[in-house]
Amino acid sequence: MGNVIKLEKVNVFYNHVQALYDINLEVKENDFLAIIGPNGGGKSTLLKAILGLNKITSGNIKLFDLPIHKAIGLIGYVPQFGKFNKAFPISVKEVVLMGMLKNNHHLFRGFKISEQEKATEIMKKLDIFELKDRQIGQLSGGQLQRVLIARALAAEPKILLLDEPTASLDANAKTQIYELLKELNKEMTIIMVTHDMSAVSTYVKSIACLNKELFYHGEPKLSENILDRVYGCPIDMIAHGVPHRVLHEHEEE
Ligand SMILES: Nc1ncnc2c1ncn2[C@@H]1O[C@H](COP(=O)(O)OP(=O)(O)OP(=O)(O)O)[C@@H](O)[C@H]1O
Ligand SMILES: [Mg+2]
Repeated sequence: MGNVIKLEKVNVFYNHVQALYDINLEVKENDFLAIIGPNGGGKSTLLKAILGLNKITSGNIKLFDLPIHKAIGLIGYVPQFGKFNKAFPISVKEVVLMGMLKNNHHLFRGFKISEQEKATEIMKKLDIFELKDRQIGQLSGGQLQRVLIARALAAEPKILLLDEPTASLDANAKTQIYELLKELNKEMTIIMVTHDMSAVSTYVKSIACLNKELFYHGEPKLSENILDRVYGCPIDMIAHGVPHRVLHEHEEE
């Protein structure tokens, strides 16, 4: 299996503040990678760099061996929840259809029957079809999150990037999202930013720890030492109830 994403010595500065420091990362096809790290550690910046939304200061990013601008249609993105404008007067169905807009697609020419059918299929799969005419401001957090995932899927991506998809969701809604991602992972590579350590040990295949630098990239078995270096604070602050598997290495010391 080849690399679908490859970052080499990627640096990102915002003015004079360095947000990402010499990031090297390779993601294999059908991986399910979790990116963890403290607030301000550069997780969203890294996703936006992969999407080409943020210009990198130096280094190199390739998707399927292509430069980013040639791979735009291959990648779906679910933005960080709080950043989404819920007041925008648009319905669920319209949001999902917008996911199909490509550069050459004019919003006002309308959507083809096949596109409408595709949107219906995706909404049914994500259990939001009943909500299709609802304004997005009138959805619960879990419902809105599924709408945003549906929008990302509408473009039929090969890679799905999600920025904290389960933040502020209750336990049931979280499980529902993770089960969905597990299903989608059969067909696509997934990268998910999360603070949810229980998901990390249960659902993901590999993990990257980011605090400006990437400290660890591998299987989801983490030593307390690594977590401590990444977060720079006692781990019980960030990982309340860390499952045993995560602390595996620590136990052996
Ligand atoms: N547009 C911007 N202009 C200037 N600085 C920015 C910008 N976006 C992010 N930063 C800074 O870059 C650093 C990394 O931010 P980023 O949003 O990537 O962190 P994060 O790991 O996603 O954090 P969180 O867990 O809070 O979402 C922070 O110090 C932040 O203040
Ligand atoms: Mg973020």
